[in-house]
Amino acid sequence: MRTLFCFLIGWLTTTLVAAQTHPNWIKQAVFYQIYPSSFQDSDGNGIGDLKGIQSRLDYIQSLGINTIWLNPIFKSAFQDGGYDVIDFYEVDPRFGSNTGLVDFVNQVHKRGMHVVLDLVAGHSSNQSEWFKQSMQADTNLRYSNYYIWAPHKPTDLTQQEASRWVEANAPRGKYYIKNFYDIQPALNFGYAKPNPNHPWEQPVDAPGPQAVRSELKNVITFWMEKGVDGFRVDLAASLIKNDPDKKATIALWNELNAWFDEKFPNGLLIAEWFNPKQSIAAGFDIDFLKPGHLFSPFERGQKAPAKVYFDKAGEGAIINWYTDFRDQYESTLNKGYISLPTGNHDSPRIADSSRHDPDQLKVAMTFLLTLPGIPFVYYGDEIGMNYIPNSPDVEGSHARSGTRTPMQWDGSQNAGFSAASTNKIYIPQDPDPNRPTVAKQDKDSNSLLNYVRKLLALRASSPALGSEGEWALVSDVNKPYPIIYRRFNGADRYIILINPSGNPVKADVPTMKAKQARYVFGTSEKSNYTIGKGTDAVTVPAVSAAIYKLD
Ligand code: NOJ
Repeated sequence: MRTLFCFLIGWLTTTLVAAQTHPNWIKQAVFYQIYPSSFQDSDGNGIGDLKGIQSRLDYIQSLGINTIWLNPIFKSAFQDGGYDVIDFYEVDPRFGSNTGLVDFVNQVHKRGMHVVLDLVAGHSSNQSEWFKQSMQADTNLRYSNYYIWAPHKPTDLTQQEASRWVEANAPRGKYYIKNFYDIQPALNFGYAKPNPNHPWEQPVDAPGPQAVRSELKNVITFWMEKGVDGFRVDLAASLIKNDPDKKATIALWNELNAWFDEKFPNGLLIAEWFNPKQSIAAGFDIDFLKPGHLFSPFERGQKAPAKVYFDKAGEGAIINWYTDFRDQYESTLNKGYISLPTGNHDSPRIADSSRHDPDQLKVAMTFLLTLPGIPFVYYGDEIGMNYIPNSPDVEGSHARSGTRTPMQWDGSQNAGFSAASTNKIYIPQDPDPNRPTVAKQDKDSNSLLNYVRKLLALRASSPALGSEGEWALVSDVNKPYPIIYRRFNGADRYIILINPSGNPVKADVPTMKAKQARYVFGTSEKSNYTIGKGTDAVTVPAVSAAIYKLD
């Protein structure tokens, strides 16, 4: 009896620990990512702020969005667009104040919406008080061990490791380890397997790394208690050093996520990890996927360009994207959520010089917003704002400034973004006199903006098209034009046809065994889905997308 009892308790404990908890609201969440300096300026200084965002909540809500993710708004030196935090407990004056944030959060909540901040967990600015104190020779100060200091640079480092060493010649040590730019010293979460010949490599349970861990909990608690609904965690996979299989980093996040879920059961943590298999196992609610070569000829670190799939040339492939997507989707099913965002502040926008016709963008949006998992719309993508090449480097953006240009609201000065003189605005806007704006597209029932609204409304109305509806590719992965996939949830069943190429295409797919396929939404009613006995026959016009409901 006692043995049975112990067995049951053991089983219950492991089952409960293994079961992943998510806030209920996540299933319906549709995100809008805002780069705060670029959305709406309320005080005429040329830079966006919280009050500006607040004044645009009607618009955001009109899209069918219910959750906002703000890139970092903390006190910063702005040498990496806010990802170089000076004070983790204070809103930067350029955006407002801590009380202003509380007001903003309350306004968002009044609408039944949620707001998620950006948690820069892995590093601070080199101008933060923590870092300044840790530079001192005295190693017994409060923040002494918040960073990794070394007296010399060993010769046995890999090239990648060596690239993270910054020469500082501080009283405390000659070198520190950075995370991204030199001005972003890595916080010391410890080393998975400290090398005994490298005394600066502290184990994760040493006092320094443990103090950093509790500081992170304090930062999270501070903002959660101000009412925010969670965080997107910057570089979440990078915290523990020398951890190639990520076991120690996953263990760290398992602890933090368990603590967070218990303390804030309605809170959400999104990983910037780009590997949901690991991040969901680490306890995160959502993680992003990379788009492969769907939209861009280059992936990080790649030299030779690849053919892009969403291109009129129709010469792209989906096999690499599909292999990864399916693997990530299937491995995380019923555990956590994946997301392939429409864009973000680090990558070129989907609209660019070769992909800016409204139909091309509608096709891309149909694909991105009918995938399983959680939709993320990057501000401005809903009106097809263009990536602006050769935009000036602003606050460490480098080529990313082309993706961070201020929002285009209307035909007034600075497209309604700011009352400042045009040479003062954060990043120069799209110089095209016909640049897309919200005002123009609002009035046009055929616009990309209204298309996105209808698409999100359809998605919200259907369990099959929502975050948890089943997804499966039904077309041949090696004949990628068109992509045909199904989204099913019990009797709620849809088939999606996607053809970005400039040619009409046909395909036969295994029959869905339906009475009929009804066109419900898309760019062209001229597509066709005919139910057959063994196979169904599909035709899709050039550059078009269609959603069929199966009855
Ligand atoms: C990822 C962020 O998305 C990026 O903008 C930033 O530069 C790096 N992390 C460093 O924080």
